[in-house]
Amino acid sequence: MLKDTLQQGRTVTDKTLERLLPPGSQYPGSIHQAMRHSVFAGGKRLRPILCMEAAQMIAGCIPRGIDELGAALEMLHTYSLIHDDLPALDNDDLRRGRPTCHKAFGEATAILAGDALQTYAYEVLAKLQCPAEARVAIIAEIAHATGTIGGMIGGQVMDLEAEHVHPDAKTLEYIHRSKTGALLTASVVTGGMYAGADASQLQSLRDFGRNIGLAFQIVDDVLDVTQTSEQLGKTAGKDTAHDKATYPALFGIDASLKKADGLVGAAEAALDQFGERAATLREIAKFLVERKK
Ligand code: IPE
Ligand code: IPE
Ligand code: MG
Ligand code: MG
Ligand code: MG
Repeated sequence: MLKDTLQQGRTVTDKTLERLLPPGSQYPGSIHQAMRHSVFAGGKRLRPILCMEAAQMIAGCIPRGIDELGAALEMLHTYSLIHDDLPALDNDDLRRGRPTCHKAFGEATAILAGDALQTYAYEVLAKLQCPAEARVAIIAEIAHATGTIGGMIGGQVMDLEAEHVHPDAKTLEYIHRSKTGALLTASVVTGGMYAGADASQLQSLRDFGRNIGLAFQIVDDVLDVTQTSEQLGKTAGKDTAHDKATYPALFGIDASLKKADGLVGAAEAALDQFGERAATLREIAKFLVERKK
């Protein structure tokens, strides 16, 4: 069942993160405590789960050591959340049901905790237990996906510059594909690389990732309007408060959900060549738009 798959993926990821991240007692303590505060606050671990499921689909089993690739993706995602919440960006107090990193540890430590999660993620990636050629391709893929050209930072910059501007649909799509879609895409693509996927399989995974990536951020925008802060574990209604460029703001909630559904259909179709082996990834794609947090 999907619920069990998601639960197992979370448990494996949490265990690996626990093993890899320096303990809070490691000198200098404050930075390690801040990193752990944000990492172990109960995220859904969707990027590691997508990565591991993509690998399982390609290899027929979960390849040894892929949990470390998943953990590195989760470190990068958590770094992006810590920085996204900073006063200079979205200025949020609540994340994953806890005070944001800068609220708990101060702004300077939060900035450094984000930086530290990023550099540590690459240390973990450099030591992945897969053939060297795949390891280098994985590192390049992830660096690009979190970078400035169609990647996470590029999207975050445009997200901030689009506040109060009410950009057109094309710019909005660029923002969402970049700030969120790129890392989700890299999660499934690098899972495939780790498992030895060929070029055609990687292209299918990339098409799948691009579709669920955009759908995921559209749904994130919708949930910001429809859910409470308690349900989300982060401040609801803040996109409207900041006059952010979002799908519901531009198209309304119904049209946004319809668009997300269409993207999930396209994501499922992208996996046609895998037949029944893609059943779990297809289920996860549907879950991404049906989720309530
Ligand atoms: C939230 O991501 C930020 C976005 C990129 C939309 P998630 O919804 O995956 O957050 P966690 O990891 O479960 O906290
Ligand atoms: C965040 O988008 C995307 C990244 C963290 C890169 P949002 O600003 O919408 O994410 P939330 O809603 O704060 O989680
Ligand atoms: Mg933001
Ligand atoms: Mg935000
Ligand atoms: Mg949001």
